[in-house]
Parts: sequence; C-alpha cells; structure tokens
Amino acid sequence: MAKKKNISKGTNSVGLDSKLSKALVGELNLTLAAYQVHYQNLRGCHWNITGPAFFELHAKFEELYTKAQVVIDSLAERILTLEGRPLHTYSAYLKASKVKEQNDLTTAKETVACVMGDMSVLIAQQRRVLEMADKAGDEATSTLIGDNVTAMEKDLWMLRAYSGV
Ligand SMILES: [Fe+2]
Repeated sequence: MAKKKNISKGTNSVGLDSKLSKALVGELNLTLAAYQVHYQNLRGCHWNITGPAFFELHAKFEELYTKAQVVIDSLAERILTLEGRPLHTYSAYLKASKVKEQNDLTTAKETVACVMGDMSVLIAQQRRVLEMADKAGDEATSTLIGDNVTAMEKDLWMLRAYSGV
C-alpha cells in the first residue's frame, strides 16, 4: 500500500513520471525558445526581402511565421499541461535558443538560407524532445512534436527545391 502511494507521488497530474516530465519540459522550453527566434527571423525576412522574388517570398514567409505562431502556442500550452512554466521573455529566448537571431537579410538567397538553417536546427531540437517524450511514455507530446517535424521537413524540402540546393 505504502509502495503504491510512493509511485503516485512520483507522477504528475497527467500520470507521467515527474522527473522525466520535468526533464521533458526543459527540452520543450529550449524548443519554444528556438521557435520564437525562428519566428522573429521569419518576420524580418518577410519585411526586408527585396528583388524579383519579393512577392512570392514575402507571402511564403508570412505563411511560415503564421504556422510557427500556432506551434509556439501549442508548445507553451503543452509545457503548462506538464506542470511547467513556458519561457516568455526575449532575454530568456535568446539565452536558450539554438536558433540564432539574424539581422538585415534582404536577398532571396540569404533569407531562404536563413530559414532553411533555422529549420534544420529546429528539426534536430525536436528529435531530442521525441527521444525524451518516448522515454517518459508521453504520447501526446510525441504526437505534437511528430506532427511539427513532419510539416517542417516538408517545408524544408520545398525551400531546398526552390533554392536548387
Ligand atoms: Fe505583412
């Protein structure tokens, strides 16, 4: 009986191991931070793009940051569901993000390269989350992140095709 009590004491409100869940929240916060910097990079690309590809890339970057915004909210709310607190300040994001902020990109080549680079970092980051979610038996986080990775890999392929690399 006492043993059972100890086991439930080690789980959170959704029945996941508290320690594994806490570690997962840490990795989710790194993902949230990276997405926020990626989001702002996309905003910069959307605003500052110039040249013959302006109309298509201006619209494409808007489509991508709109998608990123939805993911960002899902990540923050998953963190809260797991009883964590989402990072929410710019200073915390810049400190935690493996995606680096970019400044004054204007050409098609440099903006697309920036977004592709960000996406590669985000995919790798989310694979780390998937490993930890698997360890914690957290299928909901696995589904959320798996869907993000699937969509982002497709976007990355399209940008690769667009840029011919
Ligand atoms: Fe706009």
